Amino acid sequence: MKSYDQLLTEHYGRTDLKTRILSALEKAGKDINTLTREDLFTFDEFHIGGRLETRNLAEWADLAPGARILDLGCGIGGPARTLAAEFGCDVTGLDIIEEYCLAAESLTRRVGLADRVRFQHGNVAEMPFDPETFDAVWSQHTTMNIQDKQALFREIYRVLVPGGRFIFHEVCAGLNQPIHFPVPWAHEAALNFLIPPRALHRSLIDQELTEEKWRDITADSLAWYQKAAANMATHQTKPAKPLGIKLLMGDTTPAKAANVVKNLKEDRIRVVQGVFRKNG
Ligand SMILES: C[S@@+](CC[C@H](N)C(=O)[O-])C[C@H]1O[C@@H](n2cnc3c(N)ncnc32)[C@H](O)[C@@H]1O
Repeated sequence: MKSYDQLLTEHYGRTDLKTRILSALEKAGKDINTLTREDLFTFDEFHIGGRLETRNLAEWADLAPGARILDLGCGIGGPARTLAAEFGCDVTGLDIIEEYCLAAESLTRRVGLADRVRFQHGNVAEMPFDPETFDAVWSQHTTMNIQDKQALFREIYRVLVPGGRFIFHEVCAGLNQPIHFPVPWAHEAALNFLIPPRALHRSLIDQELTEEKWRDITADSLAWYQKAAANMATHQTKPAKPLGIKLLMGDTTPAKAANVVKNLKEDRIRVVQGVFRKNG
């Protein structure tokens, strides 16, 4: 039987992702020696709502310039770069897929943000950081892959400074289960660890994190994803564009996108955001 790490690597891992991305950028006519964040926005934020939703969340959470942020499950670093470039934050990204960290480092250096953004390969359930290191822990679409939520929330609490905040944008379980697979975070149930919004809220309170803000953005997420999924389906019938989320989601992108829409419509998944503060 395959281990969780093997399944996760199989799901997210793309061999030599950094080279694939750079060659896709060249195919799209970009000069990879003078890249900007605008060249990356169609594929470097791997969550519902893309870069716009990262901005929305950062504004809603009122992120301060200079804040030291840990981005959990940072992917190829799009959100980390947005927080650094647009909000003046100092960001450390942590991801379990080494290929993602390598691609994240390369893209960040190429767009000139390496002095404010760095990446570390590792597991969010055992974070390689000292206690009280970060002003905020940030998570977009990562907790759904983590089975041991207690370990995750303990670690978040441990690495936050007193008064620090956990800021998240996560997919939760809806009223109707099971969900349709494959989805962008899991091709099968063994990687899917969604919990209902109320259970997420309860777990954070139990971890002595105090609610500052909470909102359910399921309806807006469905509207955004319906457009995105239609776009991805159209690309099937036209010559493939070199840049797009397919670089990360692979050939099953249209099926995964269609299932997100179906799961949202049938109340199998919900999307929530929150800001919770560590007391002290
Ligand atoms: C759907 S992607 C979201 C990426 C990124 N947060 C973004 O919004 O662009 C989920 C990410 O979580 C990472 N991940 C999943 N389980 C993890 C774990 N146990 N430790 C660290 N990273 C993990 C995956 O490798 C992947 O990069």
